Amino acid sequence: MRKNLSLVILISAAVLFILNPPGESQKTPPQILQTQGEKPKFLLPPKKSQLTFTEKKGQALYDYYCVLCHGAGGNGDGFNSYTLTTPPAKLADPNLMTKLPDAQIVAIIKGGGRAFGLSPQMPSWGGLFKDKDLNALVAYVRTLSRRTATGG
Ligand code: HEC
Repeated sequence: MRKNLSLVILISAAVLFILNPPGESQKTPPQILQTQGEKPKFLLPPKKSQLTFTEKKGQALYDYYCVLCHGAGGNGDGFNSYTLTTPPAKLADPNLMTKLPDAQIVAIIKGGGRAFGLSPQMPSWGGLFKDKDLNALVAYVRTLSRRTATGG
Protein backbone atom coordinates (compact mmCIF):
# COMPACT_ATOMS: atom_id res chain seq x y z
CA MET A 1 0.00 0.00 0.00
CA ARG A 2 2.82 2.38 0.91
CA LYS A 3 4.55 1.38 -2.29
CA ASN A 4 1.42 2.21 -4.31
CA LEU A 5 1.15 5.61 -2.67
CA SER A 6 4.70 6.61 -3.55
CA LEU A 7 4.09 5.39 -7.09
CA VAL A 8 1.02 7.62 -7.37
CA ILE A 9 3.02 10.58 -6.06
CA LEU A 10 5.81 9.86 -8.50
CA ILE A 11 3.43 9.68 -11.45
CA SER A 12 1.60 12.88 -10.46
CA ALA A 13 4.93 14.68 -10.18
CA ALA A 14 5.92 13.45 -13.63
CA VAL A 15 2.58 14.57 -15.11
CA LEU A 16 2.89 17.99 -13.47
CA PHE A 17 6.40 18.30 -14.81
CA ILE A 18 5.26 17.53 -18.36
CA LEU A 19 2.30 19.89 -18.20
CA ASN A 20 4.24 22.72 -16.59
CA PRO A 21 8.00 22.35 -16.98
CA PRO A 22 10.11 24.65 -14.78
CA GLY A 23 10.89 27.94 -16.41
CA GLU A 24 7.73 27.89 -18.51
CA SER A 25 5.89 30.25 -16.17
CA GLN A 26 8.65 32.84 -16.38
CA LYS A 27 8.35 33.13 -20.14
CA THR A 28 7.37 36.62 -21.23
CA PRO A 29 4.67 36.90 -23.89
CA PRO A 30 6.09 37.23 -27.43
CA GLN A 31 6.82 40.83 -28.36
CA ILE A 32 5.79 41.92 -31.81
CA LEU A 33 7.56 44.87 -33.34
CA GLN A 34 9.95 45.57 -30.52
CA THR A 35 11.71 48.36 -32.32
CA GLN A 36 13.57 50.89 -30.26
CA GLY A 37 15.09 53.21 -32.83
CA GLU A 38 15.75 50.64 -35.54
CA LYS A 39 13.40 50.19 -38.46
CA PRO A 40 10.77 47.45 -38.16
CA LYS A 41 11.10 44.63 -40.69
CA PHE A 42 7.39 44.47 -41.39
CA LEU A 43 4.30 46.11 -40.05
CA LEU A 44 1.13 44.59 -38.78
CA PRO A 45 -2.19 46.35 -39.07
CA PRO A 46 -2.89 48.46 -36.00
CA LYS A 47 -4.85 46.81 -33.19
CA LYS A 48 -8.51 47.73 -33.29
CA SER A 49 -8.31 48.93 -29.70
CA GLN A 50 -5.77 51.62 -30.66
CA LEU A 51 -8.09 53.16 -33.22
CA THR A 52 -10.71 55.85 -32.96
CA PHE A 53 -14.26 55.05 -33.99
CA THR A 54 -13.80 56.69 -37.42
CA GLU A 55 -10.51 54.87 -37.99
CA LYS A 56 -12.17 51.57 -37.15
CA LYS A 57 -14.84 52.25 -39.74
CA GLY A 58 -12.09 53.08 -42.20
CA GLN A 59 -10.30 49.85 -41.36
CA ALA A 60 -13.42 47.82 -42.15
CA LEU A 61 -13.64 49.51 -45.57
CA TYR A 62 -9.91 49.21 -46.19
CA ASP A 63 -9.94 45.52 -45.28
CA TYR A 64 -12.73 44.97 -47.78
CA TYR A 65 -11.72 47.17 -50.73
CA CYS A 66 -8.02 48.00 -50.51
CA VAL A 67 -6.24 45.27 -48.60
CA LEU A 68 -5.97 42.84 -51.51
CA CYS A 69 -3.58 45.18 -53.29
CA HIS A 70 -2.15 47.50 -50.66
CA GLY A 71 -1.72 44.84 -47.96
CA ALA A 72 -2.96 44.73 -44.37
CA GLY A 73 -0.12 46.90 -43.11
CA GLY A 74 -0.14 49.19 -46.16
CA ASN A 75 3.16 47.82 -47.42
CA GLY A 76 1.92 47.29 -50.98
CA ASP A 77 2.05 43.54 -50.51
CA GLY A 78 -1.56 42.35 -50.67
CA PHE A 79 -2.00 38.98 -52.34
CA ASN A 80 -3.17 40.61 -55.56
CA SER A 81 -0.13 42.90 -55.69
CA TYR A 82 1.92 40.15 -57.28
CA THR A 83 -0.30 40.07 -60.35
CA LEU A 84 0.02 43.82 -61.03
CA THR A 85 2.58 45.39 -63.34
CA THR A 86 2.70 48.55 -61.18
CA PRO A 87 3.28 47.78 -57.51
CA PRO A 88 0.53 49.23 -55.30
CA ALA A 89 1.60 52.34 -53.41
CA LYS A 90 3.07 51.70 -49.98
CA LEU A 91 0.49 53.54 -47.92
CA ALA A 92 2.65 52.87 -44.84
CA ASP A 93 5.47 54.96 -46.30
CA PRO A 94 5.58 58.34 -44.54
CA ASN A 95 7.58 59.87 -47.42
CA LEU A 96 4.73 59.16 -49.83
CA MET A 97 1.93 59.96 -47.43
CA THR A 98 3.20 63.36 -46.29
CA LYS A 99 3.11 64.40 -49.96
CA LEU A 100 -0.53 63.36 -50.28
CA PRO A 101 -3.08 65.75 -48.76
CA ASP A 102 -6.37 64.23 -47.60
CA ALA A 103 -8.19 65.75 -50.58
CA GLN A 104 -5.76 64.05 -52.96
CA ILE A 105 -6.30 60.66 -51.33
CA VAL A 106 -10.05 61.16 -51.65
CA ALA A 107 -9.63 62.25 -55.27
CA ILE A 108 -7.57 59.19 -56.20
CA ILE A 109 -10.02 56.83 -54.50
CA LYS A 110 -12.83 58.35 -56.55
CA GLY A 111 -10.96 58.92 -59.82
CA GLY A 112 -8.48 56.05 -59.78
CA GLY A 113 -4.87 56.06 -60.97
CA ARG A 114 -5.66 56.87 -64.59
CA ALA A 115 -7.18 60.25 -63.71
CA PHE A 116 -3.86 61.29 -62.16
CA GLY A 117 -1.44 59.91 -64.71
CA LEU A 118 -0.80 56.93 -62.44
CA SER A 119 -1.36 53.27 -63.13
CA PRO A 120 -4.95 52.39 -64.09
CA GLN A 121 -4.46 49.36 -61.84
CA MET A 122 -5.39 51.69 -58.99
CA PRO A 123 -9.16 51.41 -59.54
CA SER A 124 -11.62 54.30 -59.56
CA TRP A 125 -14.42 53.84 -57.10
CA GLY A 126 -16.45 56.77 -58.39
CA GLY A 127 -19.39 57.53 -56.15
CA LEU A 128 -19.32 54.19 -54.34
CA PHE A 129 -18.22 55.71 -51.04
CA LYS A 130 -20.18 58.36 -49.17
CA ASP A 131 -18.21 61.38 -47.94
CA LYS A 132 -18.09 60.03 -44.40
CA ASP A 133 -16.79 56.70 -45.68
CA LEU A 134 -14.08 58.52 -47.62
CA ASN A 135 -13.13 60.44 -44.48
CA ALA A 136 -12.98 57.19 -42.54
CA LEU A 137 -10.81 55.58 -45.24
CA VAL A 138 -8.41 58.53 -45.21
CA ALA A 139 -8.29 58.50 -41.41
CA TYR A 140 -7.41 54.81 -41.39
CA VAL A 141 -4.89 55.03 -44.24
CA ARG A 142 -3.13 57.76 -42.22
CA THR A 143 -2.68 55.40 -39.26
CA LEU A 144 -0.65 53.05 -41.47
CA SER A 145 2.18 55.54 -42.06
CA ARG A 146 1.98 56.92 -38.53
CA ARG A 147 3.06 53.52 -37.27
CA THR A 148 5.95 53.43 -39.71
CA ALA A 149 7.14 56.85 -38.62
CA THR A 150 7.10 55.97 -34.94
CA GLY A 151 8.36 52.42 -35.42
CA GLY A 152 5.32 50.84 -33.91
C1 HEC B 1 -6.48 46.34 -57.78
C2 HEC B 1 -5.47 46.83 -56.88
C3 HEC B 1 -5.76 48.05 -56.03
C4 HEC B 1 -6.82 48.25 -55.17
C5 HEC B 1 -7.97 47.31 -54.87
C6 HEC B 1 -6.59 49.54 -54.57
N1 HEC B 1 -5.46 50.11 -55.05
FE1 HEC B 1 -4.66 51.91 -54.52
N2 HEC B 1 -3.15 51.67 -55.85
C7 HEC B 1 -2.96 50.54 -56.64
C8 HEC B 1 -1.79 50.75 -57.47
C9 HEC B 1 -1.24 49.75 -58.48
C10 HEC B 1 -1.27 52.01 -57.13
C11 HEC B 1 0.00 52.68 -57.69
C12 HEC B 1 -0.32 53.58 -58.86
C13 HEC B 1 0.95 54.15 -59.43
O1 HEC B 1 1.88 54.42 -58.67
O2 HEC B 1 0.99 54.35 -60.65
C14 HEC B 1 -2.15 52.56 -56.11
C15 HEC B 1 -2.00 53.80 -55.53
C16 HEC B 1 -2.75 54.29 -54.49
C17 HEC B 1 -2.51 55.54 -53.80
C18 HEC B 1 -1.32 56.48 -54.03
C19 HEC B 1 -1.53 57.47 -55.10
C20 HEC B 1 -0.32 58.32 -55.30
O3 HEC B 1 -0.50 59.53 -55.50
O4 HEC B 1 0.81 57.81 -55.28
C21 HEC B 1 -3.46 55.65 -52.84
C22 HEC B 1 -3.63 56.79 -51.84
C23 HEC B 1 -4.31 54.50 -52.93
N3 HEC B 1 -3.85 53.67 -53.95
C24 HEC B 1 -5.38 54.25 -52.10
C25 HEC B 1 -6.21 53.14 -52.23
C26 HEC B 1 -7.37 52.93 -51.39
C27 HEC B 1 -7.79 53.81 -50.23
C28 HEC B 1 -7.96 51.80 -51.83
C29 HEC B 1 -9.24 51.16 -51.32
C30 HEC B 1 -10.44 51.97 -51.39
C31 HEC B 1 -7.17 51.28 -52.93
N4 HEC B 1 -6.13 52.14 -53.14
C32 HEC B 1 -7.44 50.12 -53.62
C33 HEC B 1 -3.75 49.41 -56.67
C34 HEC B 1 -4.91 49.22 -55.95
